[in-house]
Amino acid sequence: MIQTNDLTKRFGNVLAVDNLNIEVKDGEIYGLLGPNGSGKSTTMKILTGILSPSRGKAYVDGINVEWEPNEVKKIVGYIPENQILYESLTPNELFNFLGGLRGVPAHKMDKRVNYFLKAFEFNRYLHQYIGTLSFGNKQKVAITAALLHDPSVLDNGRSHERVGSQDRTDTEGDPVQIQGEG
Ligand SMILES: Nc1ncnc2c1ncn2[C@@H]1O[C@H](COP(=O)(O)OP(=O)(O)OP(=O)(O)O)[C@@H](O)[C@H]1O
Ligand SMILES: [Mg+2]
Repeated sequence: MIQTNDLTKRFGNVLAVDNLNIEVKDGEIYGLLGPNGSGKSTTMKILTGILSPSRGKAYVDGINVEWEPNEVKKIVGYIPENQILYESLTPNELFNFLGGLRGVPAHKMDKRVNYFLKAFEFNRYLHQYIGTLSFGNKQKVAITAALLHDPSVLDNGRSHERVGSQDRTDTEGDPVQIQGEG
């Protein structure tokens, strides 16, 4: 669950987030819509422990994001607007690296990675350098990386961009349904 109480962020004279009060219950999918510069990314940065609020509070699963930003990072999955992936690693190397950082046990890692490999039909790219993958396949790597540790919260920087389950060159394809293990 995500909760904000009068969440406010100022950058100098700019009021980026103005008294935001939202509540997102477990299992709900919640989108922030608004004009450019209206504070969506700033809100997400606060919720993921990257920025501190100027005033007000934000909680993710009861954790105060300002006081315990590192605890929040353990339970949040984040797919950035611009993919920042290590191009000279293979997806397999990246997943192992991230799994180690987040302390995911090996047997759980295998299960999670296999789940996404199957959902995305991604097997054949597992040992290919990320830098050589197509855009859509990089997205699949980013999504898998964000969900490896079975986070409580997924922040999808650009949720309208769909990723097909099939390896196709056109933009059609069924969106892969992603469910946590609960
Ligand atoms: N690090 C920063 N320093 C100063 N001002 C900032 C900073 N980050 C954001 N802002 C300002 O805060 C306001 C909100 O920006 P933000 O990036 O949160 O908007 P957004 O809703 O994500 O916009 P977009 O739809 O363009 O992505 C803008 O006026 C922006 O210029
Ligand atoms: Mg933004």
